[in-house]
Amino acid sequence: MDLNHKQLRFVALTFVGCMTLLPVAAQTAAPEGIPIDHQLTIQKCGGCHQRDSSGMMRRLSYIRTSPEVWEQAIKRMVRLNGVSMTPVEAREILKYLTTNNGLAPEEVKPIFWEAEHRMSRDQSDKIPNDALQHTCNFCHNIGRVLSQRRTRDDYQKLTAMHVGMFPGAENVFRPRRPTGREQEPPARTFAVGSGNPAAEVLAGPTAARADAKYPVDIAIDYLAKAQPLMTPEWVAWKSAMKAPKLAGKWLLTGYQVGKGRIFGTLTVDPGPSPEDFITKLEIEYASTGQTFTRTGKGLVYTGFNWRGRSTMPKTDVDPTHNPAEWREALFVSRDGNSMDGRWFWGEYQEFGIDAHLVRIGTQPLLAGASVFSLMSPSTTEMKLYGANFPATLKPADFDFGSGVTVKRIVKTTPGVVTVEVETAAKLPTGIRDVALAHSVAEKALAIYDKPAYIKVMPDANMARLGGITTGKQFAQFEVIAYAAGADGKPQTADDVPLGPVKANWGMDEFPSTPGDDDVKFVGNVDQDGMFTPAVEGPNPERKQQSNNYPTNNWGDIWVSATYDAGGTKLKARSYLVVTIPTYVRYDQPEVGQ
Ligand code: HEC
Ligand code: HEC
Repeated sequence: MDLNHKQLRFVALTFVGCMTLLPVAAQTAAPEGIPIDHQLTIQKCGGCHQRDSSGMMRRLSYIRTSPEVWEQAIKRMVRLNGVSMTPVEAREILKYLTTNNGLAPEEVKPIFWEAEHRMSRDQSDKIPNDALQHTCNFCHNIGRVLSQRRTRDDYQKLTAMHVGMFPGAENVFRPRRPTGREQEPPARTFAVGSGNPAAEVLAGPTAARADAKYPVDIAIDYLAKAQPLMTPEWVAWKSAMKAPKLAGKWLLTGYQVGKGRIFGTLTVDPGPSPEDFITKLEIEYASTGQTFTRTGKGLVYTGFNWRGRSTMPKTDVDPTHNPAEWREALFVSRDGNSMDGRWFWGEYQEFGIDAHLVRIGTQPLLAGASVFSLMSPSTTEMKLYGANFPATLKPADFDFGSGVTVKRIVKTTPGVVTVEVETAAKLPTGIRDVALAHSVAEKALAIYDKPAYIKVMPDANMARLGGITTGKQFAQFEVIAYAAGADGKPQTADDVPLGPVKANWGMDEFPSTPGDDDVKFVGNVDQDGMFTPAVEGPNPERKQQSNNYPTNNWGDIWVSATYDAGGTKLKARSYLVVTIPTYVRYDQPEVGQ
């Protein structure tokens, strides 16, 4: 990516040249395509992407993809090809393309984690084909690749664009030239012991492929077949698609690593267009009773794909909590009565709330409980969160299953009822639902006798140094306690999670180099399990590696936790890599504006 502006302009112009010369035959041979009939798109893009008499525009008619990828293309057209438009026009074109050339819900579901900006530790379970791992996935998150639906011809153009603009792609697409067309040796990634990832090549380099294909040819073959431009899912969704009627009140059940359960109400009001909404969120952290209110807006693409943002005058310097701005990706269900996704923030979007929202009607709704588990026997006061609770609630209105009884209603408001619950002795360990009339909070809490062990979650994590030229990537850990299930043996399939518990946190060296001393430099973990990395350097105090390469503050360590379970000390740890900042990022925050 070291091309200067002039060179990029040259490459772009060369491409326009190619586009004018090449596709004539290809286009008459390929009737498949999606007509573009939006005046502004035709006006802004048609100068280069010619539109024919059947409404087909070069490139645009042969691609379906997510709002983020469309946005990325539009931004690139502005940056490299001198396309000029106002933000309002860009938004209108983006909206049109994502409606006319978008993805169906079934196509988005498996890759929604990318829109949610989830930290992906390992994507190997999400890569459907080895050919993609050895090509596209070398540079891209696999979600970006799986969000493409194109004609074979357009996949070819996409790879040609890569080779033209990012010459490094050639080494990936057609490696080891000119000696031969060798197959990539199969490799496997795996976790050693407690989550230390490693890779292993299963066989040495193999001979040239009999079919003389390069990795890029195999990737295009795969993509053209598995992710074609037209699919039955898209044809069906395009006829069913409509602007969802989201206005109203929604009940939130959320979870934030390190903070626990979150409940609240999202009020959605109509915005300036049928796809635009204005939001107000009132939430409460169940573990602390801390509350806050935020306002925001959202926009629904392709009838189900919510992107939004919510803001708050900055009052809180704690990076884990109530940031000045967060972004939102929610997947609206087909019936329009539930939404699931993530609200995220942080330099690397590493903080987030998993959000599940259901529409509030007129009936009482139960969302969940402030506690994760009840010891058998015990008496516990807890809050139950929901909506439309009548002032007349009685203990008998709640059903916790046999052996768990509501003794007393302490306090009732329309959204929270505080109850005192008695748990009988010798109840079987397991997870229970809690019901209020016909509303059931599924898997609301666990019943247990004693915790058997703890786990630090996630079991491997990554942080990035920062603070001088770029922000830090923090790493939030939490400790989950487990009870041995019915078999009485820990670490078996029937174990029951008891929810997060408060632990003592520390850091230990992960010995990976001679005289390893990373633990002194990488940063610190606090008593809430939040790891704050050190600055990116330079740090003259830090020794050089044996190859004289400056190490600065990066390294790998164990983050360890000790939990006092009534006199027994339970310990666990997680592997943490503290690495350098990412200086180049691909992100399209504009889609939520
Ligand atoms: C000044 C000429 C020019 C204009 C105007 C232009 N483009 Fe392009 N576009 C190109 C060129 C050249 C390429 C091929 C090289 C590339 O992919 O960047 C291209 C490629 C593309 C691609 C394919 C990228 C991919 O993902 O494979 C998309 C999508 C696209 N343009 C969208 C648009 C949209 C939307 C507009 C209008 C807002 C637009 N273009 C306006 C020159 C232009
Ligand atoms: C050598 C690294 C590399 C490889 C390999 C690679 N890409 Fe890319 N890709 C890039 C870069 C860099 C960009 C440009 C990002 C930008 O425009 O900001 C890009 C852009 C894209 C885009 C966005 C196009 C646009 O209009 O901006 C898509 C889609 C894409 N790649 C898909 C793929 C697919 C599919 C493959 C595998 C066949 C692949 N890439 C392989 C580096 C790579």
